[in-house]
Amino acid sequence: MDNDNIMVLEDIWKIYNNGEHVIHSLANIDYTIEEGSFNIIYGPSGSGKSTLIRVMGLLELPTMGNVWIKGKNSAELPQKKRNIIIREEIGFLFQGSNLIHTLNAIENVTLPMIHTDKELARKLLEKVDFHDYMKLPNEMSTEDWQKVCLARAMVNNHSIILADEPTGDLHTSESEKLIKTLHELNRTENLTVVITTNNENIPKLGGKLTKIADGTFIHLNKL
Ligand SMILES: Nc1ncnc2c1ncn2[C@@H]1O[C@H](COP(=O)(O)OP(=O)(O)OP(=O)(O)O)[C@@H](O)[C@H]1O
Ligand SMILES: [Mg+2]
Repeated sequence: MDNDNIMVLEDIWKIYNNGEHVIHSLANIDYTIEEGSFNIIYGPSGSGKSTLIRVMGLLELPTMGNVWIKGKNSAELPQKKRNIIIREEIGFLFQGSNLIHTLNAIENVTLPMIHTDKELARKLLEKVDFHDYMKLPNEMSTEDWQKVCLARAMVNNHSIILADEPTGDLHTSESEKLIKTLHELNRTENLTVVITTNNENIPKLGGKLTKIADGTFIHLNKL
């Protein structure tokens, strides 16, 4: 496998069985994420975006197919090794990610650190352009809240940030700012980013665009 690829998805299928219904949440997904790339997966509600993020982040196993991370086939690793990959390689950002309400911004960012490093937390908050270090979550705007979540997602110097509809509850201008911050981090820190969205303005800001519908990628030559 090419070493410049952080993640390769190989013919991924995710099938849920709800008793009566069989749902193909993902079908025949092939996808390569290069180191330092900025990737957007764009699709409507119910198209499989969150399922894809969970499978990429090893939070859920695919029904069929392989997820390769840095040249290792995650399906062949014991759960303990997968947990180490989840902790060390992957940062997650979700719509409405939670912060601990009783902790200020710095404390929220230090929380997932193996060794508490407030100086690093401050640096990460600066990188996402958040400077009110002592603010409690309840005192933050939705935009600031997501910025703190993003700083926290970067704590362990992960290889890749997986962001599932990170601007889902932000206004248009706030969404744009958050995505621009992610682009900036991609450029300056070589951070690999995957974003899912159903907001048509986000792909306009740049990045490699892939469209998903009914659990499958839509390739232009198939339209
Ligand atoms: N745990 C589950 N059990 C059964 N069906 C599921 C499960 N998770 C997702 N699905 C189904 O898989 C399909 C894709 O869902 P998914 O949440 O991945 O889409 P999405 O693109 O993230 O949608 P949204 O934009 O609403 O967040 C949907 O039909 C959904 O109902
Ligand atoms: Mg979703």
